[in-house]
Amino acid sequence: MRMILVGPPGAGKGTQAARLVETYKIPHISSGDMLRAAVKEGTKLGVEADGYMKAGKLVPDDVVIGMILERITKPDCKAGFMLDGFPRTRPQAEALDAAMKKATVELDAVVLIEVPDQLLEERAVGRRSDPTTNTIYHLKYNPPPAEIIARLVHRKDDTSEAVKTRIAKYHSETAPIIPFYMSKGILKRVDGVGDPDAITQRITAVLSS
Ligand code: AP5
Repeated sequence: MRMILVGPPGAGKGTQAARLVETYKIPHISSGDMLRAAVKEGTKLGVEADGYMKAGKLVPDDVVIGMILERITKPDCKAGFMLDGFPRTRPQAEALDAAMKKATVELDAVVLIEVPDQLLEERAVGRRSDPTTNTIYHLKYNPPPAEIIARLVHRKDDTSEAVKTRIAKYHSETAPIIPFYMSKGILKRVDGVGDPDAITQRITAVLSS
């Protein structure tokens, strides 16, 4: 299975990816996680990406495209992969398309998790991540156990201001990839509002149809 999870910030891509990779036994490749790891390590790429990310802006295409196209050539991606957060612009989608054609492999599905804008800010601002287990919590919707609260991370771009910029970037830069995948007949729309278990079931249902 070669697939992409698309959706606005806070749509639940990371939450769903963690569940789906258990079912499909494919690596979860999150461009956001890779960039945050680079920022933490202080690599050249991380230093370049940090300012864009904090402000909620997109990291330049050439930086992200190189990073992801290299990642999907690794041996663990031979049988498939789940991309989360990439592609996020039309040039990124076209670069992935060209790389896959060259490798003579095809995408099976692009799952679009749809959540209205008015729910996104609260989801993102209330998110807390556990760096030990990589579990994603939410202070209201998926509260963490009291004993781990001290170690949880609040992302630098999960401020109201940065989330507003990220939502605007989603509409201006990322939404244009939707017709690109619709025209290929592989776009699957899923309602991302409701219980996370129900959403996982919706996604597995569209993937098996
Ligand atoms: P990235 O890390 O990809 O962030 P994002 O797309 O903004 O998505 P999020 O991680 O915010 O949300 P999510 O959909 O994964 O939601 P989650 O499951 O965590 O990118 C960050 C930045 O990196 C970008 O802004 C950019 O600067 C840069 N970047 C990354 N990729 C790039 C690229 N390709 N090109 C250029 N720049 C790039 O859920 C959110 C919260 O909601 C959690 O607290 C969760 O518990 C809760 N939640 C989940 N599901 C539900 C539900 N059903 N009901 C209630 N709450 C829920």
